[in-house]
Amino acid sequence: MTDLKINVINHPLIQHKLTFIRDIETGTKEFRELLEEIAMLMAYEITRELPLEDTEVTTPVGPCRCKRLSGKKIGVIPILRAGLGMVNGVLKLIPAAKVGHVGLYRDPDTLTPVEYYCKLPTDVHERELVIIDPMLATGGSVVAAIDLLKRNGGKNIKLMCLVVAPEGVKVVNDAHPDVEIYTAAVDERLNDHGYIVPGLGDAGDRIFGTK
Ligand code: PRP
Ligand code: URA
Repeated sequence: MTDLKINVINHPLIQHKLTFIRDIETGTKEFRELLEEIAMLMAYEITRELPLEDTEVTTPVGPCRCKRLSGKKIGVIPILRAGLGMVNGVLKLIPAAKVGHVGLYRDPDTLTPVEYYCKLPTDVHERELVIIDPMLATGGSVVAAIDLLKRNGGKNIKLMCLVVAPEGVKVVNDAHPDVEIYTAAVDERLNDHGYIVPGLGDAGDRIFGTK
C-alpha cells in the first residue's frame, strides 16, 4: 500500500525487543516488561521535537544558562485495555503527564469499536495528546478514540502504536490527516478475523493473561 503517512521508529533496541514480544513463547511477565520498555523508548523518540525555552539555575559553582521544556503540557490517552500496558513506560519519561482513559473494545463479529468508558483530563483542550495502543488493525478503535478526543476539545493529537496494519493506517490517515502516527512496525496485512499478520496476537490477552 503506497502513500501511508506514518513514522516508523527503527531504533535497534526497539526492533530487538519487538522481536521477543512477537514470539509466541514469550509469557505474560516478559510481555508486560518488554511492552513497557518499548513504550518508554518510543516516547523518547516522539518527544524529540518538544520545544525548549531558556532558563537559569545556580549550580554549586555559579549561574548556568540552561534549557527547559516549554509549550503545552502532555496528556497520555491509553485505549483500554491494551493501551494500559504502555502507560508506565511513557510516564517514566514524562512523569507529570496527565492520563485520560478511553475504553473501547472491538466487537468480535463486526470488528467495530464499542465505547464503554471515557475519563479525560479537564484541560484536555490545552494539552498535547498522545493516544497509546499497541495495535492498530482496522483502525476503527483509533478513529473512535480520536473522534472522542476532538469532541471533547482535543486539538494536538499524536498516536503511538507498537504494530500497525497498512489498512488501519490508511483509515486513520483518511479520517484524521492531522494526527501524526508513530509505530515500531508496519506489518503485512489483516487476516479474515481482523488480526494483524504477522503481528503478535491479541495484545490485551497477552498483557493480562486472559483468553
Ligand atoms: C485491540 C487493540 C486495539 C484494537 C485494534 O483491542 O488493543 O484497541 O483491538 O483493532 P482495530 O484497529 O481493528 O480497532 P481490543 O478491542 O481487543 O480490546 P482489549 O484491549 O480490551 O483487549
Ligand atoms: N487487536 C489485537 O490485539 N491484535 C490484533 O492483531 C488486532 C487487533
